Amino acid sequence: MSNNSEDVRTQALKKIKGEVVAISSPLSAERIKNNVFPVIGEGNHHADIMFIGEAPGEKEAATGRPFVGRSGKFLNELLEGIGVKREDVYITNIVKDRPPKNRDPLPAEIEMYTPFLDRQIEIIKPKVIATLGRFSMVYIMNRYGLAEQVESISNMHGKVLETVIEKQRVKIVPLYHPAVALYNPGSREDLKKDFLVLKDILNS
Ligand code: URA
Repeated sequence: MSNNSEDVRTQALKKIKGEVVAISSPLSAERIKNNVFPVIGEGNHHADIMFIGEAPGEKEAATGRPFVGRSGKFLNELLEGIGVKREDVYITNIVKDRPPKNRDPLPAEIEMYTPFLDRQIEIIKPKVIATLGRFSMVYIMNRYGLAEQVESISNMHGKVLETVIEKQRVKIVPLYHPAVALYNPGSREDLKKDFLVLKDILNS
């Protein structure tokens, strides 16, 4: 990949950042009140794999970085477990501002922020999208032509689905959200096993 195309991606992602920073919404209004930031995403702009979570939590909003709290620590361990460096992947969320008290994102919030996510996917062109949690799974499956295959996350996690985004074949792998694994040891083991599925795909 030439530096030139790298610059194009970085510029396009910076433009998204500017737009999210400038957005006016009930969630963005919390930024000034709480002295917090939107979380756009971070990682390799040429990543083969993109992880998509739900929305920033407290630590993420305080730092402007995705998955830096307890769930992030476990995500880092999972990546390490399959020999993947965090800086080689791209990590983002469907909703870019923290919902108060970490409540579930509302449909209107998902609708407002996901056009930015769609553009991040188009710019980064990942070969694999790993969704973290039910909200991200449902959004991505509905958005990319897999709505009829949506089942509960306990049935979907670790499966490899195929879709086409901008004429490119993309694998979608639904995963449990790492936060679930913090209080459910069974999900923790499921996540570890499902990361081996990611490892196989990346090595194939
Ligand atoms: N949970 C998420 O879904 N995203 C983050 O960035 C952090 C916690």
